[in-house]
Amino acid sequence: MSYKIFPSILSADFANLANEVTECEAAGATGIHIDIMDGHFVPPITFGPMIVKSIKPVTNLILDIHLMVIDPNRYFHELSDFGADSISFHVESSKNIKSDLELLSDLGVKRSLAINPDTPINQIVPFLSQVDQVLIMSVKPGYGGQQFISSSIDKIADLKNLIKEKKISVDIQVDGGINAENAGQVILAGADSIVAGSAVFNIYGSIPNNIDEIISNIKKEV
Ligand code: DX5
Ligand code: ZN
Repeated sequence: MSYKIFPSILSADFANLANEVTECEAAGATGIHIDIMDGHFVPPITFGPMIVKSIKPVTNLILDIHLMVIDPNRYFHELSDFGADSISFHVESSKNIKSDLELLSDLGVKRSLAINPDTPINQIVPFLSQVDQVLIMSVKPGYGGQQFISSSIDKIADLKNLIKEKKISVDIQVDGGINAENAGQVILAGADSIVAGSAVFNIYGSIPNNIDEIISNIKKEV
């Protein structure tokens, strides 16, 4: 089964970021997942578009941005200028989803709509024909290292069925609590792409902990 894997640098060693990204590339990752948080939509503040600018020259991997911020469209132009390939924004955070998706389209960036665990799928159905990807959160957004919410499996399967019924081409990305033990289940339910932070990186120790072995273990489970 083919699927994509995006290590989330939220759990990487920020003092050693270029190496972490390079190791992910060598290990066969599809792209790098970059979690931008503003301290309002979610409590933590992580980093902003500057990190995209810094990472772009050190990798050929896809840069997959996950915006956990209010009024996400404020950052679309800058992220696109700095080399973002894909931008996910939350259905819960946008004041005008349709026009925000149009703006991503105008910028030539992959359009992705993210949805929280407590938000029902029907909130994104009206936009399905306008997106390239839906990001299903399988933990509450804001922190790495949380436990996978098992009801996400049904949500993934329901969305997959809808996409098939509508005969449209929309990727399903799943983010939160994914590891070598549950990745297979997530893919079987219908995910095209998985994000993994703490399962790939171990804060301040990812290099000795061997990213390529961890990624290939996740792949083996699928
Ligand atoms: C959480 C972020 C995730 C996070 C996943 O809000 O969106 O991308 O890095 O981390 P793990 O894989 O540890 O749950
Ligand atoms: Zn994320």
